[in-house]
Amino acid sequence: MQKYFKVIVNPKFCYLAPRNGLHTSMGEEVSRSLGRKVRFIHPKFFYDEEGSKLFEEICSLPEYYLTRSEMEILDSIGLELSQFLVQDYALIELGSGSAKKTRLLLEVLTGRQESVEYYPIDISDVLKESSASLQRDYKNLKITGILGQYESGLDFIKSLEQKKLIAFLGSSLGNFDYKSAIKLLKKIHDTMNPKDLFLLGLDLVKDKRILENAYDDFQGVTSRFNLNLLTRINNELGGNFDLKSFEHLAFYNSKHNRIEMHLRSKGEQEIFISKINLSIKLKKSETILTEYSYKYTIPQIEQIANKVGFKIEKIWYDKNKFFSLILFSA
Ligand SMILES: C[S@@+](CC[C@H](N)C(=O)[O-])C[C@H]1O[C@@H](n2cnc3c(N)ncnc32)[C@H](O)[C@@H]1O
Repeated sequence: MQKYFKVIVNPKFCYLAPRNGLHTSMGEEVSRSLGRKVRFIHPKFFYDEEGSKLFEEICSLPEYYLTRSEMEILDSIGLELSQFLVQDYALIELGSGSAKKTRLLLEVLTGRQESVEYYPIDISDVLKESSASLQRDYKNLKITGILGQYESGLDFIKSLEQKKLIAFLGSSLGNFDYKSAIKLLKKIHDTMNPKDLFLLGLDLVKDKRILENAYDDFQGVTSRFNLNLLTRINNELGGNFDLKSFEHLAFYNSKHNRIEMHLRSKGEQEIFISKINLSIKLKKSETILTEYSYKYTIPQIEQIANKVGFKIEKIWYDKNKFFSLILFSA
């Protein structure tokens, strides 16, 4: 069972964090996943301070249509969404990040409620900054930031008495393979009571070039974001990765409807990560997998909803039909 402690950062709101620092588990996880035959670093480790900043830069890149498309939808559905809200709702957000999109949901909620409880759940310290910024701009907001992983955050909010609107935006579910996505969605489903709602942003299958450009931009920001994982391991786990010996690789795997991001070794090399006492040998062109980003079709979304036990209340799209925002009830 995950334990929490409260850190009072500002008298107006508090943060919750797992008692075990992220770093213990990061070391253990990296040791296991990098030592495997198919080498892997989990994408949740992208988001140290630099990684979160780089992700913000990615969001405004011309190639990264995901943020613009989802913002376009959120910007236009306020009235329709509010028709699904039968009473006062607490807003819970998984992977809230900079919380820019949250503002569009808060406009809807604060417009119809005297006060709004907001529970952002994020593994990154970016949560502190974004919560402070929201607190400054929305006076009738009560924020309880949950600094931790999605699963532990969901355990925490399960006992809330208020009706819940749970948001999971940015197509972050796409980072999960089918089995893990179903498991996480079932956990979300289990936290919901009648009249609770779940708003999920998912990227859709589309032209391969559009997809690949979004993950391999002209300015090289996504490449820096990907390579920053190695810098993080160097800084926090005592690794000796030489960033110049790796290159960013992103491609669409049409068999599995997913973008794959890798770090490819430019030559034969040996890496040592001192704090976890891990030594690995990489061959020329061998890759470390850093992210899957699954793309969905509407029949797939319907099939998943069925499997988990969700009812689809509404699906919204942007004008290009690149992205979808789905409202579920349990
Ligand atoms: C792709 S960003 C999306 C941010 C924002 N929701 C958006 O749509 O722009 C993913 C966010 O989820 C957080 N995150 C990633 N994996 C997580 C996990 N397993 N548990 C909690 N937060 C996670 C990251 O720190 C980051 O802020």
